[in-house]
Amino acid sequence: MARVELRHISKSYPGVQALDDIDLVIESGEFFTLLGPSGCGKTTLLRTVAGFNHQDSGEVWVAGRRIDEIPAHRRNIGLVFQDYAIFPHMTVGDNVAFGLRNRRRPRREIAERVARALDLVRLGGHAARLPHQLSGGQQQRVGLARAVVIKPQILLMDEPLSNLDAKLRIELRDDIRDLQRSLGITTIYVTHDQEEALVISDRIGVMQGGHVHQVGTPWEVYARPATLFVASFVGAMNVIADLAVGAGGTLALGAARLPVPALAGRDRVTLAIRLEDMTLTGPAVDAPSDALALDGAVDKVSFAGREAFYRVRLDEGTQILAHVHRPERRLLEQNGARVRLILPLARVHLFDPATGRRIEAAS
Ligand SMILES: Nc1ncnc2c1ncn2[C@@H]1O[C@H](COP(=O)(O)OP(=O)(O)O)[C@@H](O)[C@H]1O
Ligand SMILES: [Mg+2]
Repeated sequence: MARVELRHISKSYPGVQALDDIDLVIESGEFFTLLGPSGCGKTTLLRTVAGFNHQDSGEVWVAGRRIDEIPAHRRNIGLVFQDYAIFPHMTVGDNVAFGLRNRRRPRREIAERVARALDLVRLGGHAARLPHQLSGGQQQRVGLARAVVIKPQILLMDEPLSNLDAKLRIELRDDIRDLQRSLGITTIYVTHDQEEALVISDRIGVMQGGHVHQVGTPWEVYARPATLFVASFVGAMNVIADLAVGAGGTLALGAARLPVPALAGRDRVTLAIRLEDMTLTGPAVDAPSDALALDGAVDKVSFAGREAFYRVRLDEGTQILAHVHRPERRLLEQNGARVRLILPLARVHLFDPATGRRIEAAS
């Protein structure tokens, strides 16, 4: 079991700060995901842990030992890449055996461990095949078997599902999670896909522009985003940017007013609310005293089976998307209808427009 500590890691390339003082602890046995848009520094950070590139400053510690001066091939790390990176001319069995042969393990042991690793990834019986005889999902399973067969201290995966179609992605993502649990191996996983990160991780570090915005469980990142960036990147959010705050901290939007003591003394605030956190009602329905009631008209209804999405144009101009679970037929024919959206304050996220940081509404 190995705890990973990344201490104050920075790395620049000409004209870009790829990593800016990254400080993270990944607990032993944890499935930790680096989540962020393309170019935010995920691969650079993973390659720093693997030893393929060197940080300008900072340290990498694994299991209480500093490893960043150790060459990549001597760090006991399992790696899985997006493009499988398996040898096309070698059989599945030889691909998986590769790392063990490099380590000069006895033949008998290699055969046993390869067979066990292939069983683990549900490719038992496929050892004699060549990679081109396998599907993309199976090829990535070979990559996974090859990574874990060496019994690495930690497992690093960089977008391993990106080249697969949607159905296989879901299947393999569950398999990866099961495998990681059964081996108990500390794992750092990289993805730009927020849903994948939510489903697969114990904890997530959300990155942007070489920074970590927030580290938390999937629930924490989704339900209490620390910054406006996290709020917008993870899940779908309506954002109403840079609203004026009235005297004593009153939220004001169109005709709606709601006192929020936490906003006292502020001039402006950015408000965000998830599509599923509002109630769509008829125009005359009273809102509870701790909710914002916003009036508007339905612009568009998109029916998607178990759910429907309502685009509502508020009277003061803003467009809001609302989600209705298990929509009823009569509600689908509402183009142009007057409606009221009820936003409970407990579900509203507030951010400082200047810094993007979360403001706790409930104080
Ligand atoms: N070898 C390199 N030379 C120059 N710039 C690089 C190199 N590798 C990465 N970068 C830059 O560093 C930033 C982070 O890249 P990367 O870590 O690959 O992001 P991600 O994996 O999150 O998409 C990007 O701006 C990228 O263009
Ligand atoms: Mg990358």
